[in-house]
Amino acid sequence: MITGKTKIIGIFADPVEHTLSPSIHNEAFQYLGLNYCYVPFHVKKEYLKDAIFAIKALNIKGVNITVPHKEAVIKYLDEVSDEAKYIGAVNTILNNEETLKGFNTDAKGFVLSLKNEKILIKDKIFLVLGAGGAAKAIVYGILKEGGRVYIYNRTLAKAMAIKERFSNLGFIEVVSIIDKSVTEKVQTIVNATSLGLKKDDPMPLSPELLKSEHVYCDIVYPETHLMKEAEKIGCKVIGGTGMLLWQAVAAFEIWTGLQAPVEIMKKTLNKVLT
Ligand code: ATR
Repeated sequence: MITGKTKIIGIFADPVEHTLSPSIHNEAFQYLGLNYCYVPFHVKKEYLKDAIFAIKALNIKGVNITVPHKEAVIKYLDEVSDEAKYIGAVNTILNNEETLKGFNTDAKGFVLSLKNEKILIKDKIFLVLGAGGAAKAIVYGILKEGGRVYIYNRTLAKAMAIKERFSNLGFIEVVSIIDKSVTEKVQTIVNATSLGLKKDDPMPLSPELLKSEHVYCDIVYPETHLMKEAEKIGCKVIGGTGMLLWQAVAAFEIWTGLQAPVEIMKKTLNKVLT
């Protein structure tokens, strides 16, 4: 029940209708008997500054930040974690007595989604498709865990910028085309583009380049066309719900200081997806 003592958590996004985060977090709050409530806010670009100011004005305890605000939000915060600063994107904000601190739980979310499926990162070679906000967090996560990265993006300059940003963390190389000479070098392929979100999107990679030995990860959910193809080929497939779950777990712990009920969150996610 919402009372005068309820702590408000929000998500700022445009669009916001599709978000699954309110279900995941509200179920977790209820399970632990916490007087918190997670609310979606449709925040357009031109109101981002006002919305961030409102976190303090309305004493909102914390928010998730997602498309398209993850990078733009940084300039309005009082503090940013070293990791989020390094990645250049914030997806979680904590209001700690009117000090707004930004975090990035996407990198951790991606790494944990792989670890949870017993997929190794250290010394493994990855092909990352995409060079947007999500790709930055993923590349950072892989390099920090000791993996190596080949990165491809439609707009090559953005892939080059990611290489420059992270090259001191480990091996990262840009590829300008994807063919067998690339896919045969790598163990894991990650779609970090938005391709697959819309039903008629082309696939980010030709399935002919996949082999059963590949791990195929996608940040998009529910199951994409290429995920289905990869499964048919016999690849180990990790969908976008893994990253969604584990970034939520990390955000929950930042806001509440408590261990998140992972199994309840996972169950809720599966329920809302079916
Ligand atoms: P996010 O924060 O989810 O990563 P983003 O920053 O807008 O979103 O990044 C979207 C990614 O998907 C980019 O790598 C984009 O490629 P460009 O940098 O060339 O724009 C990629 N992407 C989107 N639509 C695409 C398409 N039709 N073909 C290829 N790549 C596409």
